[in-house]
Amino acid sequence: MPVDEILKELGAIKNRALRSIAMVRGIKGLESARVRYLGKKGQLTSLMRVVGGLPPDARPLAGQTANSVKGAILQAIAEKETELKAAEQESRIVEERVDITMPGADYQIGRKHPLTLVTEEILRVFCSMGFGVAEGPDIESDYNNFEALNIPKHHPARDLHDTFYVSKDVVLRTHTSPVQIRTMLATPPPVAVVCPGRVYRCDADATHSPMFHQVEGLMVDKAISFSDLKGILEVFVHEMFGPDTPFRFRPHYFPFTEPSCELDILFHGEGEPNGEGVWLEVLGAGMVHPAVFENVGYDPQKVSGFAFGLGVERLAMIKYGISDIRLFFENDLRFLQQF
Ligand code: DAH
Repeated sequence: MPVDEILKELGAIKNRALRSIAMVRGIKGLESARVRYLGKKGQLTSLMRVVGGLPPDARPLAGQTANSVKGAILQAIAEKETELKAAEQESRIVEERVDITMPGADYQIGRKHPLTLVTEEILRVFCSMGFGVAEGPDIESDYNNFEALNIPKHHPARDLHDTFYVSKDVVLRTHTSPVQIRTMLATPPPVAVVCPGRVYRCDADATHSPMFHQVEGLMVDKAISFSDLKGILEVFVHEMFGPDTPFRFRPHYFPFTEPSCELDILFHGEGEPNGEGVWLEVLGAGMVHPAVFENVGYDPQKVSGFAFGLGVERLAMIKYGISDIRLFFENDLRFLQQF
């Protein structure tokens, strides 16, 4: 190949190479351009082999030209590479940009259920007067739930409790009163306990839920009288509903207490007719029946005591002015977040 043709071809390779490098749009394209011109079988490499075979007098000019073409291509590749990397970084910065003005991910802080709050408040008041806390199982024997509490089979008082029977002699407890029995069977007198827990009755409407909560109270010692019951419940009412809340005892009947009563408080609140307040029933109570003492091996000649039982939902409804018991169990956050 004559030298002038080689020089012409070197010029053409340089032009083609620089043009295609300029047009490249990514690192891959740049690499294939490099291979096309400078690779082992690349256009410039092949021509340089030809230059190597030229006679000595023709070689220097062609060699120098070929080297400067190579240098120009290498420089173009290096510049392009810098440009591509800068562009890539720029687009990553845009892509991965974090908008720090965006609102943060919200998270909700949990809180205690209103029934938990009221239960804790009830326990706090009684524990401050020296009561301990006792618990029993939700699934209870018919004996503890009824019989030992002086409610024999076929006794009309069983109609008060529409009972869920697990089997003939096992029930979902209809009240927390069986915890009285368990406590007295396990401990000799004196006892003073409050017993919170779930209870079950086959009943459902705006004011009745098939599962609800009670707190039972029991105090037994030598010479406990009805005035002890009154004094303790007076403290409870005034702690729970305010120091000036009027209350009254009304005679009532429970098989496991004699005498028995219900306690009402005078309540001022929404929906109350003429500003005089309404009497609301808050709990049942009484002096422990001698038959109950006999059933647990306590001597009714030597000890006496009182018991009471209250509904937590009922208390919470009065305290917070809630008219539908089902709100407690629907877990609607708009309701729960108010407490
Ligand atoms: N166990 C009764 C009920 O569920 C409430 C009750 C009344 C409990 C009088 C007592 C009590 O301990 O003395 O309706």
